[in-house]
Amino acid sequence: MGRVSQKYEERIKKSYSEFRKSGLGKWAAVYYKGIFRNQYSDPKLIYDIFTKNIIGEIKKGSITIVDFGGGDGVLLNIIKQQLSKKNINTRAINLDTNEKSLKLCKNKYPWIESKKHNITKKYKTSFADLALSRFVLQYINKKERPNFFKSMYLTLKKGGLLIILWPGNDYTKEFNRFTSQITGLISKKSPKEMLKSHWYPSFNEAKKNIKNAGFNKIEKVKLKAILFTSASSWKDRFKINKNDFLKIERIYKYFFIRYPYLFKKLNKKIYITSNLFVIKAKK
Ligand SMILES: C[S@@+](CC[C@H](N)C(=O)[O-])C[C@H]1O[C@@H](n2cnc3c(N)ncnc32)[C@H](O)[C@@H]1O
Repeated sequence: MGRVSQKYEERIKKSYSEFRKSGLGKWAAVYYKGIFRNQYSDPKLIYDIFTKNIIGEIKKGSITIVDFGGGDGVLLNIIKQQLSKKNINTRAINLDTNEKSLKLCKNKYPWIESKKHNITKKYKTSFADLALSRFVLQYINKKERPNFFKSMYLTLKKGGLLIILWPGNDYTKEFNRFTSQITGLISKKSPKEMLKSHWYPSFNEAKKNIKNAGFNKIEKVKLKAILFTSASSWKDRFKINKNDFLKIERIYKYFFIRYPYLFKKLNKKIYITSNLFVIKAKK
């Protein structure tokens, strides 16, 4: 094992213990700028992807943000803190269908306006400066994606900014075959069925949807952030029993042999890898 890999392993262990503290288990390790970070709450990652672009594009002292599928509001809260350091006030609206997440959001961040809303349906029109969505696109049914992008487009004022982030792999088909086997096992559905509801789009697929919704100035936000997910990450995250965990390990081994380029190996453990794809665009 080379020196670099040893370092990787040390870092992944360090970041995992940080996750446990923040209650995220062993899920969500992103390798970015030399260390493993928490994909949901790392301030540097959030700054580079969201806040920096917001400051660069929206020149106002107070802005309205709508987060499509904002979950428990962790992203909005960190963006608000970072913007307030630049003397920008934030009004934030979190649209989600998950009542548990909305309740958490209300309790933790009462200043966020949490609304139960299906984000593939139109919300209010032409009032927001920023529409954002993080780790949601892959769960939107392929057929509904045009509606999802359209509802973000409609929410924005003219000149408003979209920033969207989702995990994906340049080997889209193989990667989706892999994830559908695992998510199928977890949700007791067939992989084929999972491919309809959980398709991780390629960069160009998402870009096409964004263009068709009417957005302009569509740009890739360039950053090299790699998500690492081991078989045991799924186990912790989804409380998987021993038998299913063995099946997941077999899926990992099978795909690793057939498609080694989807994986990274660190100290004998294999990790499926994906990139953080980020697009910004204007209405
Ligand atoms: C992985 S979580 C990401 C949460 C949050 N965006 C973040 O990055 O911290 C995905 C979220 O998308 C929400 N979601 C998925 N489909 C949705 C839909 N059609 N309407 C509203 N929310 C949806 C889920 O309820 C969940 O909260």
